[in-house]
Amino acid sequence: MSDVAPPEGTGHGVPLRSVAAVAVGVAVEPHLLAFRPYADLLEREFSGLTAENAMKWSQIHPGESEWRFGPADHLVEFALGRSMRVHGHTLVWHQQLPRWVDGLKSPASLAAALGRHIGTLVGRYRGRVASWDVVNEAVTDRGVFRDSIFLRRLGPGYIADAFGLAHGADPAARLYYNDFEAEGLGRKADAVYALVRRLVDDGLPIHGVGLQMHLDAAAAPAPDDVAANVARLAALGLEVRISEMDVRIRRLRARDPLEGQRAVYQETLAACVNAPGFTGVSFWGVTDAHSWIHRRFGRDAPLLFDAVYAPKPAYFGVRDALASS
Ligand code: XIL
Repeated sequence: MSDVAPPEGTGHGVPLRSVAAVAVGVAVEPHLLAFRPYADLLEREFSGLTAENAMKWSQIHPGESEWRFGPADHLVEFALGRSMRVHGHTLVWHQQLPRWVDGLKSPASLAAALGRHIGTLVGRYRGRVASWDVVNEAVTDRGVFRDSIFLRRLGPGYIADAFGLAHGADPAARLYYNDFEAEGLGRKADAVYALVRRLVDDGLPIHGVGLQMHLDAAAAPAPDDVAANVARLAALGLEVRISEMDVRIRRLRARDPLEGQRAVYQETLAACVNAPGFTGVSFWGVTDAHSWIHRRFGRDAPLLFDAVYAPKPAYFGVRDALASS
């Protein structure tokens, strides 16, 4: 707990970044930074930023020799100007890939493109982006490697290669494997654990695991299972972060769904914040007005702030959990 006074006019007390001993980040769309209430809220509450989309392959590297760094540069400059850390997302993923990558039919051409993509992107932000999701969602819920252009053309070795390439481009960056529905215990979490254990055993430059934590409050993993999973990952010598947290309430049959949401946020975080190796939490958006959830799962209210920037019960639950870190 810190004794830093809240900036004037916040109206709801000590900000998240001031109560927490761990990093508190949030995913951002750079064009929203021009909106003053959004920028002010970020600066007040969070100690880290992630690009929600701006560093994904299709956005930042849309043509084979075409790069669009503008929005990501803007985000990085905004963050570093306010002493916030940037977590890079994401280098290798089967989604949001530009069409030209699909057209690379030979393993050699895809391997070369992957090398240039990672080398250029990580190299550009060397020393400025502190950590990266190197490989995202490479395992299925059945616990096997996900079918993707990378697996088909390069075999599972693309995962190790990607970590090596990222490390070569910025030896100081912390490198993460990131996935969803691998938070508690179960088949997928076991497969993610087995994958990262193999990478560690093989001496590869992997430093951590990101648990996305896109939760449904009606079916959230048991906090004890999350704690056990974090503990076994940390026992490999890895850092663990919650990388994309949001909590849906649409299916929650409760008298007070916002209170149910608070409980899930608070109890899940409380299970993690004091675990050795746990480095922080990042939320997948700021307010309920801008969340990917509406398009993916239907209308919901998954984040910490409502559409008019007021903190929800979830905000206070998160703050209580972080204050005990
Ligand atoms: C989502 C973004 O939030 C959306 O705006 C976009 O249309 C699709 O991707 N797992 C991830 C994130 O690793 O990159 C995804 O982000 C959400 C699920």
